[in-house]
Amino acid sequence: MIHFFIRLFKCNFFLNNNILIIGASGQLGNYFVNLLSKDNNVIASDIIPNSTFDCQFQLLNILDYNSLKKTIKTNNINQIYNLAAILSAKGESFPYKTWILTTEGFLNVVKVSIECNVDRIFWPSSIAVFGLNSNLEHVLNDVPMLPSSIYGVSKLACEKLMNYYNSKKLLDIRSLRFPGIVSASKPGGGTTDYIVDMLYSALSGNEYKCFLDKDRILPMMHIDDSVQASIKLMNIDREKISINSPYNITSFNITPDLWRNIIDSLGYDLKVLFEKDFRDKIAQSWPRNIDDHLFRNDVGWKPKYDSKKTAKSIIDAINS
Ligand SMILES: NC(=O)c1ccc[n+]([C@@H]2O[C@H](COP(=O)([O-])OP(=O)(O)OC[C@H]3O[C@@H](n4cnc5c(N)ncnc54)[C@H](O)[C@@H]3O)[C@@H](O)[C@H]2O)c1
Repeated sequence: MIHFFIRLFKCNFFLNNNILIIGASGQLGNYFVNLLSKDNNVIASDIIPNSTFDCQFQLLNILDYNSLKKTIKTNNINQIYNLAAILSAKGESFPYKTWILTTEGFLNVVKVSIECNVDRIFWPSSIAVFGLNSNLEHVLNDVPMLPSSIYGVSKLACEKLMNYYNSKKLLDIRSLRFPGIVSASKPGGGTTDYIVDMLYSALSGNEYKCFLDKDRILPMMHIDDSVQASIKLMNIDREKISINSPYNITSFNITPDLWRNIIDSLGYDLKVLFEKDFRDKIAQSWPRNIDDHLFRNDVGWKPKYDSKKTAKSIIDAINS
């Protein structure tokens, strides 16, 4: 009942935008929903039901164009956050499905946005777009890219589409290449999942079996930093955005071994068994260090959380 009144209260014309979030039931979704709902009318949607949101929730498949269009028209949507995905590790078991979901989903959102005059789209890309030819020790924003996973391949294809639609001024699509995201919500089958899973193992006292090499270094960031950066990017004037493709973004670089040490320094005694699998091969082709000065300069952003603050904050969030 309380949810009903909160929704009723929020459905008014004092709110800034009518926002549709697609793929809202995943790791990042509820953080976007919670933050955006503060001053926007938000409709959360996914193919997986979710009753935890304080805003309207709708079952919606991004590949179902007619339902997508109906939702956008009925609710007068002017911004879309497209978070629907099959992540890197899971995608290797379903390459065709991953390609279709990323690319057709992206194009459905593009098509409907042009037809229904949607002002802005946020669509996250990923560090998975890079590859062994990307100078992984220091990855600039615009470098050669030969991704190793189908997830990375499909994200890169959409980056090119994004560049096309922005360059032609047909749409306003904004994007960040997220590194691994650390949150209290569980990740959905990515190559960086260990970073959240280790925190849960430390709290439960269980041994953790790590699928990456103990020294595999990867860029990561706290969920609050990633969501706040995304919303900041969505709210700035288009003229301040100097590129038509996604921005690099990062916070800290870490290995599984160093992450375990940080967790232990917070008073835990986490046992980790290192047993590499195919995900370590994917991670080998990902950046070890990202250059995101372009985003920081254009948008005036910097992360609030380093590695230790991130571990502490997410442990506190899981415990609360
Ligand atoms: N989590 C990370 O570390 C990370 C890193 C880089 C980029 N990203 C990107 O951020 C976005 C969100 O990632 P996430 O971690 O929340 O992913 P997730 O896998 O946790 O969530 C994705 C959501 O998409 C939904 N979905 C799948 N198929 C759908 C369909 N046909 N229609 C509508 N929804 C569908 C799923 O049910 C799921 O709830 C994705 O674009 C992802 O590529 C995430």
